[in-house]
Amino acid sequence: MDFIELSRKRYSVRKFSARPVEAEKIASVLEAGRLAPTAKNSQPQKIFVIKSREALERIHKATPMTYNAPVVLMVCYDSKASYKNNADRHFPGYDGGETDAAIVTAAMMMEATDLGLGTLWARGYDSQTIYDAFPEISGLELVCLLDIGYPAEDSEPSERHSLRKELSETVSEL
Ligand SMILES: Cc1cc2nc3c(=O)[nH]c(=O)nc-3n(C[C@H](O)[C@H](O)[C@H](O)COP(=O)(O)O)c2cc1C
Repeated sequence: MDFIELSRKRYSVRKFSARPVEAEKIASVLEAGRLAPTAKNSQPQKIFVIKSREALERIHKATPMTYNAPVVLMVCYDSKASYKNNADRHFPGYDGGETDAAIVTAAMMMEATDLGLGTLWARGYDSQTIYDAFPEISGLELVCLLDIGYPAEDSEPSERHSLRKELSETVSEL
């Protein structure tokens, strides 16, 4: 499958099947994230793989945005490790950590899609509830949850999936 085809295939899955995800597939997803570029190669990402029954119960209780996915990656970054640009007058104290974690997450999403898995990038919750449920991430910056699993048989893309702006609205040639 070429990359454009893969990009068309990906959509936000909000209904997962109970089928367990093979450990090798999770390993490949994490490897795709490991290979992603980060500012000055700082690799500040810290990823927590939520897959034990106990941890899944905690995350499902903390937010409905997991849609009962059998695996949830909690993607954070360490602001002590991330790239800072202190010479930037427009963004004083620019921190590349969130961008880095987002690039890593996007790479993991696409690898998961290539492996026949569905994903949902979730950020619509009060992050304090996640910090309260997971003391393991204290001191880190939470960027998103990446829900992963096999899509349920009747999973469908939402209407929003097909709403993409024309390139003329988002791209300017200079
Ligand atoms: C930064 C970010 C945050 C998102 N947060 C949520 C969320 O909290 N809940 C949700 O259901 N979808 C969330 N999404 C998914 C988007 O709504 C979805 O990607 C967009 O509507 C396009 O649909 P598609 O992914 O099916 O193509 C998020 C996506 C991104 C990139």
